[in-house]
Amino acid sequence: MYEQELAATAKAMVAPGKGILAADESYSTANKRFQKLGIPTTAEMRQAYREMLFTTPGIGEFFSGVILFDETIRQSTRDGRPFTKVLQDAGIIPGIKLDAGAKPLAKAPGELVTEGLDGLRDRIAEYYKMGARFAKWRAVITIGDGIPSHRCIDTNAHALARYAALCQEGGLTPIVEPEVLMDGNHTLERSYAVHHDVLKAVFDALYVQGVEPDQMVLKPSMVISGIDCPQQASIEEVAQWTVKCLRERVPAAVPGCAFLSGGQSDELATAHLNAMNRLFKDELPWALTFSYGRALQQAAMQTWRGQDATVAAAQKELYHRAKLNSAASLGQYQPDMEKVAA
Ligand code: G3H
Repeated sequence: MYEQELAATAKAMVAPGKGILAADESYSTANKRFQKLGIPTTAEMRQAYREMLFTTPGIGEFFSGVILFDETIRQSTRDGRPFTKVLQDAGIIPGIKLDAGAKPLAKAPGELVTEGLDGLRDRIAEYYKMGARFAKWRAVITIGDGIPSHRCIDTNAHALARYAALCQEGGLTPIVEPEVLMDGNHTLERSYAVHHDVLKAVFDALYVQGVEPDQMVLKPSMVISGIDCPQQASIEEVAQWTVKCLRERVPAAVPGCAFLSGGQSDELATAHLNAMNRLFKDELPWALTFSYGRALQQAAMQTWRGQDATVAAAQKELYHRAKLNSAASLGQYQPDMEKVAA
């Protein structure tokens, strides 16, 4: 019953020049990032931080959507405007993180499975009423000695597909996020092989669960050398291997792929996205854009550091990063744009 709405939301999420801000850090992830900067880990500070992000003037030019966490979707600005309303007024679609995090997979040392399917139908109905129109579920795949196992890949693909089917039934456009971690010393070729297997399993499972590809957005990791690999692939190689893998595995009916940043530096995440669009944009059936967390927020959080006095400067950082990633989603980013003041 939601088919048209779901497809329209998916298209809007990856509209030309637009991407998604992932601001759905759980309590523990948000607190870890605050602790590093000496910011108190309270609900008040998390509210103040998200208020700084969401009230940044002009971000609707670059963000189609913002992914929220359960605590955040229930919060308002200090002057009482619900965050969902603030975003909608800026032309931004509110989304919601639905997974309950990655937990150890039974009898599979070093591997994880994402939980959160219990009671999901009711949670989807509640978030829809609160104004959410899309959702996110992140599966985590680790590369290491003898892993990932087929069991880990298949179990995560199954959970992603059941989540996505429930979302489509309940009116939320699912972001399907199978993240292959960049931790480790694996090569670019190994990353490609694992991404290939993972995306095959995910799209097979989505098909089995009846998920419509035109009513979802894929949030993939990039095919990249492990952070400890002595030979780091160039920006062009990452672009080529990532696009090759997506072309081989992602149905043309999917409107877009919105990448996670996964621990890349701000500049590199932008440069990789730009290279993919600069080299291949006109030949691809889907849009390639960003759905970054760290690579959009790092500079803003470091400038903010929990102070009211730094809100405007932090907002300039966020605006600037969003603008550069918007340019990258069009293949129009140049490294010297980094220097231009926001
Ligand atoms: O699930 C992960 C986030 O949505 C993206 O975060 O860009 O920091 O990897 P990241």
